[in-house]
Amino acid sequence: MTQEHRQKSGFDTRAIHAGYEPDPSTGAVIAPIYATSTYKQDGVGGLRGGYEYSRSANPTRTALEGALAALEEGERGFAFASGLAAEDTILRALTSPGDHVVIPDDAYGGTFRLFERVEKRWGLDNTPVAISDVDAVRGALRAGATRMVWVETPTNPLLNIADIEALASLAHDAGALLVVDNTFASPYLQQPLSLGADIVVHSTTKYVGGHSDVVGGAVVVRDLDLAEAITFHQNAMGAVPGPFDCFLTHRGIKTLGVRMDRHCDNAERVVEFLSAHPKVATIYFPGLPEHPGHDVAARQMKRFGGMVSFRHTDGEQAAVDTCGRAEVFTLGESLGGVESLIEHPGRMTHMSVAGTELEVPGDLIRLSVGIETVDDLIADLDRALSGG
Ligand SMILES: Cc1ncc(COP(=O)(O)O)c(C=O)c1O
Repeated sequence: MTQEHRQKSGFDTRAIHAGYEPDPSTGAVIAPIYATSTYKQDGVGGLRGGYEYSRSANPTRTALEGALAALEEGERGFAFASGLAAEDTILRALTSPGDHVVIPDDAYGGTFRLFERVEKRWGLDNTPVAISDVDAVRGALRAGATRMVWVETPTNPLLNIADIEALASLAHDAGALLVVDNTFASPYLQQPLSLGADIVVHSTTKYVGGHSDVVGGAVVVRDLDLAEAITFHQNAMGAVPGPFDCFLTHRGIKTLGVRMDRHCDNAERVVEFLSAHPKVATIYFPGLPEHPGHDVAARQMKRFGGMVSFRHTDGEQAAVDTCGRAEVFTLGESLGGVESLIEHPGRMTHMSVAGTELEVPGDLIRLSVGIETVDDLIADLDRALSGG
């Protein structure tokens, strides 16, 4: 398949073919796991295919990075050892002490911890704001200092929606970059670069990998100057994934489209069930017409995703007990795998923001709706909520 043909292909064709051509010497259809740290040179400086040392580049990683770029319709993709390693690399590549970043006031707890407790010590300031409110973001910009507007959309765990097009033009007018954490949506449902964002970041641990068997991160850009800065820092900082991790993530990518459609189908059915349940108070799901971000989500996402959060009518202990009673939903952190997960954000994924302005409600339960038989998921939630 030629590069030109690939660029014109649909999402699933790119997911399956981009990044790798069957190996010319063996015909291997899948990129081999190149378990090598170094490469024989044909005379000093005579690199074969540009490979010299696997922190700088490894063929299994090259294949994954090509696929990541194609999924997000970017020019260059970069793989990292984790989502947070990808975030840290963006920040160190593109900001300096004295700079400022606007961040979501309900960001993933680990992202907030990175900004607040790591980057701040090195002189990078941040302002958390409601990123669904364009005026609030505008009000948080600091003339001459704001280098980035950083958003998640949907956010973790409250599923707030940021208007990517509006924030891209706001950021650009202020001389800042728009960074979108696209982890919750996945590139199948939303492609921020096409909506004007400058940088997309992922925890590929989630939907992109999709099988809860590997931790990883990704960055995708269109602009070649940004690509050059990330290339340099990816190698200079060294937070790269090994070839086996790259292989697993790349394997997951091939089924991203079909998995996402099933995640979305199942989440919609689960939301329908929760909407009628007497123990369920507020439901956070952008597919609901009453969700404040519904119209923006409908415009910029293909569907509404597989993440659902809701509040228990009977408070924190009832929410904790519900999580503990679920059986088909596994009690665990993370999200985006084929299996359904349930968790209590206040005591699990978002414990690191307890006592800060990002603290989440104690009666909140977060579901990562998997791709199992949906009737089993609904029966499980019914039992867990009813105390049986
Ligand atoms: C939205 C979001 N961004 C980034 C991360 C961090 O990724 P990782 O755990 O792969 O470092 C997570 C992890 O849960 C996340 O949910």
